[in-house]
Amino acid sequence: MIRRIFMKKKWFTIYSGLLLILLFSTSSVFGQSDWKVTDAQAKIKNPVVADEASIKAGAALFQINCKSCHGDPGKGNGLPLVPKPTDMSNADFLSRNSDGAIFTKITEGRVAMPTFKAVLNETQRWQIVNYIRSFDGNKKVAAVPAPVKVKKGEQLNAPYQISLNYSVEDNSLHAFVEGTNAQGAFVPAPDVEVGFFIKRYFGKLPFGDKGVLTDDKGMVQAKIPADIPGGEEGKAIALVSLSDKDIFGDVSEETEVNVKPVEIVNLLDKRSLWTVRVMAPWWLIITYFGILIGVWGTLAYVVFQLFKLKKAGA
Ligand code: HEC
Repeated sequence: MIRRIFMKKKWFTIYSGLLLILLFSTSSVFGQSDWKVTDAQAKIKNPVVADEASIKAGAALFQINCKSCHGDPGKGNGLPLVPKPTDMSNADFLSRNSDGAIFTKITEGRVAMPTFKAVLNETQRWQIVNYIRSFDGNKKVAAVPAPVKVKKGEQLNAPYQISLNYSVEDNSLHAFVEGTNAQGAFVPAPDVEVGFFIKRYFGKLPFGDKGVLTDDKGMVQAKIPADIPGGEEGKAIALVSLSDKDIFGDVSEETEVNVKPVEIVNLLDKRSLWTVRVMAPWWLIITYFGILIGVWGTLAYVVFQLFKLKKAGA
């Protein structure tokens, strides 16, 4: 069939023409794999100091503006576009691109890579450059967690830990947060922001005041809201976590707390068709079986007629 089409000269010309156009269009995309910037652009000096604050700001901007295509640096979870959005932690990319080059590429964009000139101001673009550069093994900027201010002048480090104490009398949850001191011992951690949540099937429901900090003794508490429904037993799981994961790490602790009991209506206990305790009303039973027989009866009739048809045809 195809050979017959190609035998006709007119069709052959059209087909080969289309094939050529296809080849050209794809090669023009693939051909752009090497993205160079001018010398002047590559030499632009980065005016934003690569300190922890700017890297953190850059990380947040990257999450919003870049991650959707480039994925998380080092995770290889970028979008499968052509050309592929480079993994920003790629060592080859980092060694071949100066800060100025990365800045220029973010500013100008190319094909599938959008321009961020109008979206992000210069400082924001440099902050992203600092974040990207923080994955450069050679020039790694020490991204040390900010020391937590402690009244005694002592500075605490990770790991941090939370202990919970649930008080049934006033239905409140007390959290005790500790960090590690220079000697490696756990000591109370003041001024740490703590989040209180009730765990749900999907997500977490926050309770208590927003942004509460631990006091001098590393203590903080929140009242369990009385109006949260918690199943027949009136129980729920409360989760307490340290808000700033960058500094403290993913630290959380859970415990069971009392909330409002909810009567669960058990369908088998109450009136229903199948129950043995309380009969369903007779009209419901008749309607139910009426519909059942009606539907299945019709189906059986149709099948029966089909068989008859087949027999008659054979
Ligand atoms: C819509 C998807 C998309 C978004 C959003 C996006 N990029 Fe890109 N990016 C790409 C693609 C595709 C390329 C490859 C472009 C090319 O080579 O022509 C690329 C290339 C780049 C390059 C050059 C890589 C190299 O190997 O030279 C850098 C740097 C870059 N992006 C940074 C960013 C930053 C920073 C952001 C966020 C501010 C961002 N991109 C947002 C798709 C995207």
